[in-house]
Amino acid sequence: MSDHEQRTPVELKGLAANDPHLLPASKNPKQAERVIAVCFVLGIIFVAAFGACFWINAQPWKIGATLGAGLSFLGIGLVAWGKYLMPQGPFVEERHQLANSQDDRDAFAAAIVQRGGDVVKRRKLLGGLLGAGLGIFGVVAMFPLLRSLGPLPKKTLDSTDWRKGTYAVDITGRRVRVGDLAVGSIVTVYPEGTQNTDRGQAVDQTVLIRISNENFTTLKGRESWGPQGYLAYSKLCTHLGCPVGLYEQELQVLVCPCHQSTFNVLNGAVPEFGPAPRPLPQLPLYIDASGYIRAQADYDQPVGPGFWERS
Ligand code: FES
Repeated sequence: MSDHEQRTPVELKGLAANDPHLLPASKNPKQAERVIAVCFVLGIIFVAAFGACFWINAQPWKIGATLGAGLSFLGIGLVAWGKYLMPQGPFVEERHQLANSQDDRDAFAAAIVQRGGDVVKRRKLLGGLLGAGLGIFGVVAMFPLLRSLGPLPKKTLDSTDWRKGTYAVDITGRRVRVGDLAVGSIVTVYPEGTQNTDRGQAVDQTVLIRISNENFTTLKGRESWGPQGYLAYSKLCTHLGCPVGLYEQELQVLVCPCHQSTFNVLNGAVPEFGPAPRPLPQLPLYIDASGYIRAQADYDQPVGPGFWERS
């Protein structure tokens, strides 16, 4: 019989089966079991809710809250299990002698001396390859995570399709001319060619309002932006991105239907009421020689809500 076969792998020294060290710490293990089970069930429910929130792209706080609650309940259950249901010890584990015999060590040293150079060289090569493999595996393992973040937004968060000279068109693609709107009227316009695209229906949407027949300045530095009383503002609410399509002509405010933010049209669409944190960006306009409404440039600031509020 070899050395290995004679060894006892683990022995609990001096502990009888009914030793208090082997009993759970809780005086009422059944109740502890119930509480832990409830924690696990709640954990499962919240983790499932997290999955559902992630799937339907719910608001970030809901995703975070469900994940946090799920992991917390699972963690509490796990800790309680260890603390109240597991034997508390202490335990002594006896092990056999781990070191090789002197004869074994001498034989191993002789073998190394005999084959030394080659072995060491190969070990370095193999160690290097193993390290490279593990490194590449670590990088590749990040791919699913990175891919789940979706495509890079690049400049799409900062810019729209409005450019210098872009024609403003209505939903049918018809270019808007200076005589098309009476004073007090409003129409949604798009950069020409985008009105039927997803992007045209999102960040490019612009409300065109005619507030008078005279050139109008909303703010200092915007003296040329409102030719013949035409003002253009982003239609995306700066709160959570609802379309700001209601125009109160008498008060000359744009109203967001979602949470009733109101934006003063005459004053650079500064929010006067509601949760919107900043004005609607204004699109600089000009009227060309043929009477068409065109953009002087893109918006000078990002449209819509702050990036973290976008869905
Ligand atoms: S989305 Fe406009 S006020 Fe909330």
